[in-house]
Amino acid sequence: MPTVYRGTIVHTKSFNEFESFEHGFVAVQDGKIIGVGNDYENWLSTQSFDPKSLKEVRLSEFQFLCPGFCDGHIHAPQYAQIGLGMSVPLLDWLNTYTFPTEAKYVDQEFALRIYRGVVEATLRCGTTLASYFATNDLASTLILAREAMRQGQRALIGKVCSNCNSPDYYVETTEEAVKGTEIFVAELQKLKSPLVLPTITPRFALSCSKELLKQLGDIAKKYDLHVQSHISENLQEIQVVNDIFKTSYAGAYDEAGLLTKKTVMAHGVHLEDDEIALLRERGTSIIHCPASNTNLNSGLCDVQRLMKAGVNVGLGTDVAGGNSVSILHALARALDVSKHIEVFNSQDIRGTGPAKSPQENYQQLSYKQAFYLATLGGAKALSLDHVTGNFAVGKEFDALLVDVSVLEKPHRSLTVDELLEKFIYTGDDRNIKSVFVAGRIVKGSQCQPE
Ligand code: GUN
Ligand code: ZN
Repeated sequence: MPTVYRGTIVHTKSFNEFESFEHGFVAVQDGKIIGVGNDYENWLSTQSFDPKSLKEVRLSEFQFLCPGFCDGHIHAPQYAQIGLGMSVPLLDWLNTYTFPTEAKYVDQEFALRIYRGVVEATLRCGTTLASYFATNDLASTLILAREAMRQGQRALIGKVCSNCNSPDYYVETTEEAVKGTEIFVAELQKLKSPLVLPTITPRFALSCSKELLKQLGDIAKKYDLHVQSHISENLQEIQVVNDIFKTSYAGAYDEAGLLTKKTVMAHGVHLEDDEIALLRERGTSIIHCPASNTNLNSGLCDVQRLMKAGVNVGLGTDVAGGNSVSILHALARALDVSKHIEVFNSQDIRGTGPAKSPQENYQQLSYKQAFYLATLGGAKALSLDHVTGNFAVGKEFDALLVDVSVLEKPHRSLTVDELLEKFIYTGDDRNIKSVFVAGRIVKGSQCQPE
């Protein structure tokens, strides 16, 4: 039986194409979108089914439907340390807080408890698609995959690989990393989940030998798999990678065949122009992680520079470098960072002197562009935009029913644009009344909104 949602609908068609239907509709059957637009009566007249068989859900004045959020980069095990240890830069943070946390996941009870929590929390915040890093431990990484499946989240899951420059208590041999990855991929493929897929996950070039990167590149190629890692996040880290690999950061991955259309690289804060050109050529995307880039003092990532150069960008929470599991929060912080870049470009800030290399005509991100990053941009980055990311007919119905009047009723009616803007700047998980993945409700209810 088809269900039709009638009311305000918003989504994007590209970075610069925002589309909305004020008195619109989205029709869904068997989890897929079968109709969308403004003219419901006209659409209905072209359908063969009995209109009486339709279930109708009417949205109220301050509600709207939008695509589910995509978190293109999140470390599920680090949910155990979220909000702690935010005062040191990347390499110290990894050694002091993160590696000790991740090493605990050999304890499967602990793993199940935290992984259950992080999937619940991200779904509650509207993340219908997540690309998760797990840990080096194979058994608990499978627990994460099963937990995402059980809760009905669309997810890419990676067994993290690292065989060098890591503490003794949290490192693998090359053979362990490769074998573990092969077994993980085989186990996930056996599950035949339409929602949960494996992704090849070298932690970062710094903690993987050339040989390991190459073997992981070979596995990705052999099975046509997704790939995820980190790139150019922190200046100290970049220097070490350049010294070890005798090439650029992007070059280190490219030599191993790890830069593909199905690859996402988190951060990309300090990429050189030639690295950006290489990413574009390979069709590799960047996941912008504004909260983490600020918390770990990594820098300000210029999304406009990447997009202008033809590199697609999605958004990531990067928990626990990022201190929130909410992509809505990441979206607002992406807007902050973009404004800060404009301020640095245009002002002589007291005490810091004038901008060193002012960019002419820098244009800050609009909230609609940031909304693209959080939805379709992420889906595209993860090469899943044929399935999700917006409300195109034929895609799966991954959606959020948002109500901006949950906490306080606005004192006047709002335009469609204002509804979205208000949600972005003042909203949180309480404003997300229902979350749908492939048409199935994974948070809230489908009942007539009051
Ligand atoms: N680089 C390598 N590992 C990590 C990690 O866990 N978090 C972040 N932000 N960067 C990394
Ligand atoms: Zn990360």
